[in-house]
Amino acid sequence: MEFISEALLDYCQNHTSPEDELLSLIARETYEKVLMPRMLSGQLQGKTLEMFTKMLNPDVILEIGTYTGYSAVCMARGLSENGKLITLDINDELEQMVRGFFDKGGLSSKIDYRLGNAIELIPALEGNFDMVFIDADKINYIRYYDLVIDRVNQGGIILADNVLWSGKVLAEAGSKIDKDTKAIMDFNTMVQEDPRVENVLFPIRDGIMMARKL
Ligand SMILES: C[S@@+](CC[C@H](N)C(=O)[O-])C[C@H]1O[C@@H](n2cnc3c(N)ncnc32)[C@H](O)[C@@H]1O
Repeated sequence: MEFISEALLDYCQNHTSPEDELLSLIARETYEKVLMPRMLSGQLQGKTLEMFTKMLNPDVILEIGTYTGYSAVCMARGLSENGKLITLDINDELEQMVRGFFDKGGLSSKIDYRLGNAIELIPALEGNFDMVFIDADKINYIRYYDLVIDRVNQGGIILADNVLWSGKVLAEAGSKIDKDTKAIMDFNTMVQEDPRVENVLFPIRDGIMMARKL
């Protein structure tokens, strides 16, 4: 579901910096060769992530859900000079392709790409984070938030993708709600009520929640 008309979306995209060669390549190869290409962030959201990151200039970013590496590349571009981005994904079938993209962008030394279940990988990571991007299985969003919140530095941000879930978050109480929709609705309520953060829900693409640690 698109929340604005196709014409307005095109207008927004045409007035947003275009993808460079690497991001175009990732998008093209994802659409040609990979299942569920709509999972990729794309130009508008990718540039938004890049801008947020450049404004924050973080030393450490954690991404949960690499897929083909599009959002990782966008965020890595905003890291501080010696900063690093740790990105986690459970799907090892895309490893060669993703590492190839990171190499091509000269980002392999900045991006620590780890394969496995994020629920198990996160507790084994050392140190704190300045920025976290949650973009994996919706059912575990609250678990991911709980795993990272105490490790986000003051002023750091947690971003979570797909928090409008194609508009299904408007489901009426008492109606039949699927598990993923319920998980996203619970996540949004939990963030809204969490006194440790201030937050804003951006209606960009499928919705991005930004929670800033107080
Ligand atoms: C929406 S895609 C990520 C898109 C990517 N961030 C982007 O914007 O281009 C979600 C990814 O989460 C991964 N994933 C799902 N469950 C996971 C888990 N438990 N641990 C780690 N990764 C997981 C999937 O394999 C998939 O690649």
